[in-house]
Amino acid sequence: MEFSIQKVRKIAIMLLLAAVAALQPAWSQTKPAAKPIEAPAADPWWKHAVFYQIYPLSFQDTNGDGKGDLKGITQRLDYLKTLGVDAIWLTPVYPSPLVDFGYDISNYVAIDPVYGTMADFDKLIAEAKKRDIRVIMDFVMNHTSDKHPWFIESASSKTNPKHDWYVWRDGKGPGQPPNNWQSGFGHSAWEFDPKRNQYYYHHFYIQQPDLNWDNPKVKAAMFNAARFWLKRGVAGFRLDAVDTLFEDPQFRDAEVLKDADGKPRANYFGDPMLDQSLTVNLPKLHEVLAGLRVVTDSFPGQRVLIGETYMPNVAELLKMYGVNNDELQLPMDTQLGMINKLDVPAFRQKILEAETGLNDNLPLFVFDNHDNPRMDVRYGDGVHNDDIQRVLSTVLFTTRGAALMYYGDEIGMKTTPPARKEDVKDPIGVLGWPNFKGRDGERTPMQWDDSANAGFTTGTPWLPIPDTYKTVNAKAEVMNFNSLLNWYKQLIELRRSQPSLRDGNNVMLNTTDNNVLSWLRQASGKPAVVVSCNFTAQPQKVSIDLTGVGLGGKSARTLMKTPGSSDPASLKEIELPPFGVYIGEVQ
Ligand code: GLC
Repeated sequence: MEFSIQKVRKIAIMLLLAAVAALQPAWSQTKPAAKPIEAPAADPWWKHAVFYQIYPLSFQDTNGDGKGDLKGITQRLDYLKTLGVDAIWLTPVYPSPLVDFGYDISNYVAIDPVYGTMADFDKLIAEAKKRDIRVIMDFVMNHTSDKHPWFIESASSKTNPKHDWYVWRDGKGPGQPPNNWQSGFGHSAWEFDPKRNQYYYHHFYIQQPDLNWDNPKVKAAMFNAARFWLKRGVAGFRLDAVDTLFEDPQFRDAEVLKDADGKPRANYFGDPMLDQSLTVNLPKLHEVLAGLRVVTDSFPGQRVLIGETYMPNVAELLKMYGVNNDELQLPMDTQLGMINKLDVPAFRQKILEAETGLNDNLPLFVFDNHDNPRMDVRYGDGVHNDDIQRVLSTVLFTTRGAALMYYGDEIGMKTTPPARKEDVKDPIGVLGWPNFKGRDGERTPMQWDDSANAGFTTGTPWLPIPDTYKTVNAKAEVMNFNSLLNWYKQLIELRRSQPSLRDGNNVMLNTTDNNVLSWLRQASGKPAVVVSCNFTAQPQKVSIDLTGVGLGGKSARTLMKTPGSSDPASLKEIELPPFGVYIGEVQ
């Protein structure tokens, strides 16, 4: 074993750093209140929550099959507790042929053996509860797997009891589908079934037939499945692709979108791009959402409905809360997180819209998930990626809203797409190659430490471990108080303990500045908090004048800042390094 003076010195320095880190939280100048402030009884827990999305196949394997499992998640609950998360959302863990990695469900009231057993699930809920962490299930209402017994029965004849549980239509003529609709995952959305001599509609893969939500029996069956999990103690659901439940009842052809010069536009599968108004976001879906809300509200403990809602604007997003606030409590606001460039005016606009355009409902902001390249690809410049993530996480955790993060964000995991077509696991990556390499890149295994396979598995990981794991891993980052992981922990702790960050309204400041995004949070009777984020690779000076927002404070006490940011004597003199952040309490 190699033993050198340098090594001894390195260990001594590491121990010293760890001791200092234990005494003083990284980044913060002033320790936030030690005891978290409890939410008033009337204030539902989810209003302040940090939700953490887990892609179970990639989180932690415990049986060496190279795929993550429920026991693995249970094992890592202490890590999540230390990070400060309030709830975990599991992408689907139901039995599934795994064509779409669980989004093709063949039984809504069981656990796929890949992930373990129902006993493992109950244990996860119980252990999470001990740590005050709630568990949210993914609920896929639009479609089932083609291997679900409902579909097998439905496809068996035109007269079976479930003949109308799916969307079946006659073709326009021999070999001709009912209309020109395209699947979101490429090519025609209609698949011919010789047994019925009819086509069925699939918004996604051929193996994901759409349920017929006009049939009350479908609704009853799905709501019963929801009750099954609510009884087991889940805190709510993330509703998958919820805007795709209904289709135009007349099944008209969709309009083909054209370029400015009149040429039909094509997507990366080579299909014509279609107007989606006949297949997405049909008004009837609101009845279903309101109905499901009645179900979740009938259970004690403030269950929550989160929606996968890629809405085109704030007015459409508002509809997802329901006209009487009786639908989703937290439809995802994907508009902010998917701006996909560091554009200060665009960020300001989206935060402002969420503040003023949602009828005082709470936005749920999100940057990363299992369907889109991680932040490094969408916002990084290749040089300052972690600093840019510090800026984006500050936006996520310190603006007014519930926050949804994705596993691995906190350690700065990078998108790692497959290098060769033959390595692609996500079928749309095979179809779209090389223009679109699928979603494997954002689903790689969690990087826990620098041991073999990053501590994820003792077997062969189902997706390769990115080379970065030697340095980008949770264990190394716990020890390094300048790490992204410690930045996330501190931000989450600050968000929880600082009354204005927790409950305050959100006012955008310096609204003509195109380089630095600044805002103010203020809860009634509590000290206000100012946040400034440099969105550029150049140092910036910021001068904040609060008289315009009716506040007299001219100085601030630093709560958190990135290294190199000033500890300003006056709010008129905040200095930020490239992609620097300053958070201060107004004095
Ligand atoms: C949602 C999921 C995605 C899945 C699709 C079909 O968009 O997030 O992963 O492929 O629905 O269920």
